[in-house]
Amino acid sequence: MRTVSLQEIAQHNKKDDLWVIIHGKVYDLTKFLPEHPGGQKVVLKFAGKDGTKTFDRFHPADIIQRYLSPDVCIGEAEVNNSGEQEPEVETEEDKRVRLAREKMPRLDEMYNTFDFESVARNILKADSWAYFNGGANDEISMRENHNAFHRIWLRPRVMVDVSKIDMTTTMLGDKASMPLYISATALGKMAHPDGEKALAVAAGKRGVIQMIPTLASCSIDEIVGARVHADQTQWFQLYVHKDRRREKDLRQKYVHEGPNEFQDEEINREGGAATAMSGIIDNTLNWNDLAWFKSITKLPIVLKGIQTKEDAVLAARYGCAGIVISNHGGRQLDFAPSPIEILPEIMSALKQEKLENIMEIYIDGGIRRGSDIFKALALGAKGVGIGRPTLYAMSGYGAKGVQRLLELYQNELEMCMRLMGTPTLADIKPEMVDIRNLKDHFVANPTDYLANLSYEKMVPRGNLSKL
Ligand SMILES: Cc1cc2nc3c(=O)[nH]c(=O)nc-3n(C[C@H](O)[C@H](O)[C@H](O)COP(=O)(O)O)c2cc1C
Repeated sequence: MRTVSLQEIAQHNKKDDLWVIIHGKVYDLTKFLPEHPGGQKVVLKFAGKDGTKTFDRFHPADIIQRYLSPDVCIGEAEVNNSGEQEPEVETEEDKRVRLAREKMPRLDEMYNTFDFESVARNILKADSWAYFNGGANDEISMRENHNAFHRIWLRPRVMVDVSKIDMTTTMLGDKASMPLYISATALGKMAHPDGEKALAVAAGKRGVIQMIPTLASCSIDEIVGARVHADQTQWFQLYVHKDRRREKDLRQKYVHEGPNEFQDEEINREGGAATAMSGIIDNTLNWNDLAWFKSITKLPIVLKGIQTKEDAVLAARYGCAGIVISNHGGRQLDFAPSPIEILPEIMSALKQEKLENIMEIYIDGGIRRGSDIFKALALGAKGVGIGRPTLYAMSGYGAKGVQRLLELYQNELEMCMRLMGTPTLADIKPEMVDIRNLKDHFVANPTDYLANLSYEKMVPRGNLSKL
């Protein structure tokens, strides 16, 4: 492989003649540039230069070798005279993040999910924070997801032996230490360099299931390889590509999409997922396709994103092993209802059709407390998924942070089960929750100070301290 001088590389700095250094190798990305779903600007920013640092924030290390032709590799970049690559200059944003990280509280000072969110807000780069924390449009659904839990009150039973609490369960036939799983969230490396591998480690150590996203920033091999035990269960979240023979391509393209820190006019920010994906995902996907999926796999198929009782009934009729009632964390359609609000009507529709026992029901969105899990289980969910909290915990503290987060959920659920007089999950019944106000969106809620303080209002970051 030839050694290419930095001077020569610097000359290839145009749209129609574009070389970029990534991990010491020089790539000619001229032909690939128009296909980059994250837009061209981000690539052009590194025209004739080293783009490794930014590349690593979004991509699995092996993505170029796996998806681009070997011809794009021109050679190895020359190292400078001191024997090292040019050091990257620290930007103002890098400096802010570095200083904020130095002041991070210790992990044992984290007492609930909102603590992790507050830390993440300070220590993440602005683009990562916006990508993780954002919701669709006015973010009404995003906030409603958690707020709806405040409209459910508990009916605790007393005089029950709660000396031992057992929250172990099974999900799709596999054991889990508690009725909670880590949901799929794309681009985990924006939170932490270990990305989805950190989630795999934490999930394995705490005995919970991890759902791997199609658009992971680590390769599937890396995420599977990071498992703590050989029998650790992982699920795979699948986006369906227009051309179903080319799922790999979908993965590559979306990983390149990334959040829009570069203000690329081709893709709007939170539309990132929706907009970039819309060109790639199969918009013709419909109920009849389930038969095809069932014909190509023996794995259980779970539909994520159910938002009405009608679709829940159809999912059961079409033979799904389960559904996830989800509005994707309020990131897609604003004013899509909170999953916890529609769980009761979905359960009663399934019962009416005698379909309630043929598939497992999961919900995700706004699960921030052990009592949220309890409420979901009481209303018929087999388990719950969590999205943002894992990203926040990982941002500050890597796999250890996510372990601590899972421990906090577990501790809170345990305390809730004890105080509710329910030593096992089977003891949790619908009559233990009062849902009379659940449908009322305008009842007076107790102020949620913790969440309100963590929620970022739309002001320039520099002014936050003045609020
Ligand atoms: C940053 C981010 C990326 C996400 N990416 C995906 C994805 O690639 N695929 C998917 O099915 N859901 C994705 N989701 C949705 C989550 O799987 C989950 O439905 C949602 O986050 C649950 O809400 P919560 O964040 O309030 O816990 C993403 C969510 C976030 C916050």
